[in-house]
Amino acid sequence: MAPDLSPRPDADRPKLQARGVWKTFGHGAARTVALQAVDLDIADNAFVTLVGASGCGKSTLLRTLAGLEHRSAGDLRCDGQPIDGPGRERAMVFQHYSLYPWLNVLDNIRFSRQLATHTRDRTDADVEAASGRADALLRLMGLAHVARAYPSQLSGGMQQRVAIARALMSRPQVLLMDEPFGALDAQTREVMHDLILHVHRLERTTIVFVTHDVEEALYLGHQVVLMAPRPGRIDSIHPVPLPALRTQDMKLAPEFTALKRTLLERIRATSGMQTDTELLARLSRAGSIDLAR
Ligand SMILES: Nc1ncnc2c1ncn2[C@@H]1O[C@H](COP(=O)(O)OP(=O)(O)OP(=O)(O)O)[C@@H](O)[C@H]1O
Ligand SMILES: [Mg+2]
Repeated sequence: MAPDLSPRPDADRPKLQARGVWKTFGHGAARTVALQAVDLDIADNAFVTLVGASGCGKSTLLRTLAGLEHRSAGDLRCDGQPIDGPGRERAMVFQHYSLYPWLNVLDNIRFSRQLATHTRDRTDADVEAASGRADALLRLMGLAHVARAYPSQLSGGMQQRVAIARALMSRPQVLLMDEPFGALDAQTREVMHDLILHVHRLERTTIVFVTHDVEEALYLGHQVVLMAPRPGRIDSIHPVPLPALRTQDMKLAPEFTALKRTLLERIRATSGMQTDTELLARLSRAGSIDLAR
């Protein structure tokens, strides 16, 4: 068996730190508390997954960490420095492939690097290093054969691999991923899971990964942060009792299935979504939804 060289989260060095973070949208009756007094430490090298019912503030927390959204109150830091906007050390991958349709795969991957380095300040060594990294990322993501293809010519899984390669191009220390595999089929997702774990091992990137899928959260994360809605808040934090080097068969381990059940029950309990069983019984008796009155 291969030695387990997986990075372990360095608990003494929080990479990201939230203290009493609030985010509200709107005013008066339309006011929504998307984040209520969020306290969270994310260790360097950690792979943390965020799960919870729809509307519990997962994307808002991620966007606030990315600096794409300003917090309403509280303190948010990366490496001890306040987060007041986007930064090169933090990259984001969105659910819907956000590639530039007019650029081919290779140019999409190179694009973030081009933005970050002013053309005049670039040396030949910079250009060489960047193109070496772009090539390596292309091959790692299994995209070498489509380097000259355009996004519209790729499958969803391939497009998302390009988006991840692009995010990794500038060597971010933190990768923020918002349901990056949500639109992929089950088989492609499994491949992507092992790929992202591989990238985490190689690059030692701190990853915060939002998902609806509890199994995905457990398979990928060292730690699962469960959020609850109305108001959006952290409900509980669960260390994942699995070796750092994950294999697909671990999904059948009793500790995996037990924690999966606990998380699913807790999400159900906090979601506030309940089926109106009385109405359902009436409709069943009537045999039609149209007779609901
Ligand atoms: N730009 C916005 N303006 C107003 N309300 C917003 C805005 N963005 C988010 N919200 C509200 O904040 C709350 C949290 O939304 P958020 O998108 O963070 O939830 P989520 O956990 O990512 O949900 P989902 O799982 O459905 O993606 C929701 O009630 C949402 O309606
Ligand atoms: Mg969301």
